[in-house]
Amino acid sequence: MNVEATSPILLFDSGVGGLTVYDALRKALPEAPVIYAADLAGLPYGTKTEAQIAARVAGLLGRMAERYQPRLACIACNTASTIALGMVRDVLEIPVVGTVPAIKPAAAVTRSGTIGLVGTEATIRQAYVDDLEAQFASGKRLLRVAAPGLVAAAEAKLRGQPVDPALIADVHARLAAMPGGADIDTLVLACTHFPLLSDELAAAFGSDVAQVDGAEGIARRIAHLLEGQSFAAQGPNRFVVTGPLTGAQGLEEALATRGFGPAEAF
Ligand code: DGL
Repeated sequence: MNVEATSPILLFDSGVGGLTVYDALRKALPEAPVIYAADLAGLPYGTKTEAQIAARVAGLLGRMAERYQPRLACIACNTASTIALGMVRDVLEIPVVGTVPAIKPAAAVTRSGTIGLVGTEATIRQAYVDDLEAQFASGKRLLRVAAPGLVAAAEAKLRGQPVDPALIADVHARLAAMPGGADIDTLVLACTHFPLLSDELAAAFGSDVAQVDGAEGIARRIAHLLEGQSFAAQGPNRFVVTGPLTGAQGLEEALATRGFGPAEAF
């Protein structure tokens, strides 16, 4: 495939969570032009049904690919990836990279053999996660909890608002109360929003509990797929949102420090 040097990488999430993947991608490919799309009109995905998420994500990514002509798309969202990755790959003619819970690296890190997994309600019930567990964590104990409140907390934190420690304490308490929960030494952050709360999670779980997410692995995968291609950015990276532009209010600093221009409406 002949790729224009100005052709962007499209990163997609329901909100700002995918910025954790964006940060890793910028380290791996600093010259690559990126369009980050936040489906704020559809946020949160984690409380929606599989059918709603699949239709929305496949439809939006089809339209975005047509408009922005990206060289590669990355679904920087565990919820959307575990449900709709196959469908999106069927729709788009470019490479599509997904984000799935980092169970494999967590299984390599744990010493106690007990891993906690924090995700959205929709993610933790996916067969995709059962398969990852069977493939990479058989013989380990994987304890899953849904933490929908943390998605909103991460969105608010990036807009400069404080995080309610009770929200994090609740996630910790629910995991600790599960059989074997006291032995957790590794935490899979199975939602791209959650690494934005890494300090708060460390305060609740203790800094000796390892936090594992997929961002760096995804950035490496993208860099590998684009090996040999050239990059020529035409300006700052772009941050686009679905729904009213007011949804991006408060993100100005977070966007500017990451090299984005002002938020745009999709
Ligand atoms: N950032 C998304 C994920 O990785 C989910 C947030 C949401 O519920 O929309 O799962």
